[in-house]
Amino acid sequence: MCGIVGYIGKREAYPIIIKGLHRLEYRGYDSAGIALLGNELKVYKCKGKVADLENFVSGKNIDGTIGIGHTRWATHGAPNDINAHPHYSESKNLVIIHNGIIENYAPLKAELIKRGHHFLSETDTEVLIHLIEDIKKNETLDLFEAVRLALNEVVGAYAIVILDKENKDRLIAAKKGSPLVIGIGEEEFFIASDATPIVEYTKNVVYLEDEEIADISRKGGLKLKTIKNKKKTPYIQELELQLEAIEKGGYDHFMLKEIYEQPRSIKDSMRGRLSSEKGIVNLGGITEYEQKFLNAKRIIFVACGTSWHAGLVGEYLFEDLARIPVEVEYASEFRYRNPIVYEDDVVIAISQSGETADTLAAIELAKSKGATIIGICNVVGSSIARATHAGSYTHAGPEIGVASTKAFTAQVTVLTLMALRIAYRKGTISTSKFHRLISELEAIPAKVEKVLKTNDAIKKLSEKFVNSRNFLYLGRGYSFPVALEGALKLKEISYIHAEGYPAAEMKHGPIALIDEEMPVVVIATRGASYEKVVSNIQEVKARKGKIIAIVTEGDTVVKEMADHVIEIPETDEILVPLISVIPLQLLSYHIAVMRGCNVDQPRNLAKSVTVE
Ligand code: AGP
Repeated sequence: MCGIVGYIGKREAYPIIIKGLHRLEYRGYDSAGIALLGNELKVYKCKGKVADLENFVSGKNIDGTIGIGHTRWATHGAPNDINAHPHYSESKNLVIIHNGIIENYAPLKAELIKRGHHFLSETDTEVLIHLIEDIKKNETLDLFEAVRLALNEVVGAYAIVILDKENKDRLIAAKKGSPLVIGIGEEEFFIASDATPIVEYTKNVVYLEDEEIADISRKGGLKLKTIKNKKKTPYIQELELQLEAIEKGGYDHFMLKEIYEQPRSIKDSMRGRLSSEKGIVNLGGITEYEQKFLNAKRIIFVACGTSWHAGLVGEYLFEDLARIPVEVEYASEFRYRNPIVYEDDVVIAISQSGETADTLAAIELAKSKGATIIGICNVVGSSIARATHAGSYTHAGPEIGVASTKAFTAQVTVLTLMALRIAYRKGTISTSKFHRLISELEAIPAKVEKVLKTNDAIKKLSEKFVNSRNFLYLGRGYSFPVALEGALKLKEISYIHAEGYPAAEMKHGPIALIDEEMPVVVIATRGASYEKVVSNIQEVKARKGKIIAIVTEGDTVVKEMADHVIEIPETDEILVPLISVIPLQLLSYHIAVMRGCNVDQPRNLAKSVTVE
């Protein structure tokens, strides 16, 4: 999720753009850049934060009342000076900034190279501005028309702003799948990924719709067309939200925003990696290492916290589908217990931040023993991503809330894709089951959307447990890791003690804890162990425990026993974690808010544990 800012008007552009980029840093940054058009076109860009860009620019020429700026959250190409935006066209007359993913950039790039284009970066964005100029090279074609024609050729998501060195009176912007807002001031226009850089200058904004292109000029004002050449009348709205609320997208906390982003982030973690039509799953990042998986006698997951829970789901997936023995290790234990690691082991490191010290150390240890290291990270170019031999990014976008939510479901999605791909290659899964699971996986975002609609009911339920002192979370099979994850969510943001257990473990001790004061969350969705979970519920009921059951839509059996029921849509058992975790995230969020806890920054915790 990158940050975009553009300005054209009567004031110097530089301070407005830089301040706007600071406002957008919460969207993620690993590099930043700015283009200004005064007496000449200047492009300044570098790896790091916006402050690093300011240092880089200090003392340089920053004149101009028109410009564009960008903070990058890398998706294609490591974070470095060259991959930072803005990007030039071949002639260097055009510059572009972009938020999104051009899925078909590779074939477009190959065709443009054939036509003599030279590329400096690894990004999909640079391909887009070269394509626009290649179409525009016919001098009679207006830049706006060239942009429109080019956008009809790309597949993917974009929010772009383009500046033409030959025309300091005009910016062109376009949007599809990524947000873009235009602020309308007195003889000036502001463009940004959201309203945070705009709201202090004007409250009058136009939110671009998908496939709209904006022609923003000093003389002609704001004109809109669709990429299909249909004229559109700008719909000007008055901003009500205050600055801080806008950063959170109108949600009270980043955590809630990120819980609600999961239909999109799960979709983004699959984007370009599966097609039920073609019946394929393909993770480009590990293609060269698939043979290592096929030869592997064992897979070892190393991770911490929520990422460790995702690894536990990964264990069930890889053993169940690809029939490869799996171990799941807490990185902090693995790194010190002198583990046995073989050269034909595949070690998968899972990390949202890509900076967790214990996980990094575990990687180095495994690497020193000759194992193949695969990464599943959310931050492109992070230390862990760079320490692995290969990997797949989760593309969940920046996760600001300390409690990991969308990163978990994105990790589980990537693990599911990986296990399906390896199972397909090994022939340990039937074609019909493979196709069925791909279709089911593609349907998950819509099912998550549906579960999010139970938020009000969960909020109401939460009121009953605000003063609880303990919680138990139970699950079997694929739902056992989700029970652990639900317990971690509650304890880390509400400070209520909570434990997750395999449901069958109750009789080996924890059942002694059960009384009328003990809420027990049970994931009791339909599946192989459903009947057994039902009997576990009966054991708890018999001892007056309070049952909160997560059940499959239409369940009538558990409904009779449980004190509270949250229904979730049916899906294949191996995909249930992607849906059943959502109500647990919401339950912990509402209880924590009602307890007055700092949900986004819980006490004693940091978003990334970069120390031991
Ligand atoms: C989860 O909600 C916590 N924030 C924490 O357990 C986290 O998952 C753990 O520190 C691992 O972080 P990573 O995924 O960035 O490596």
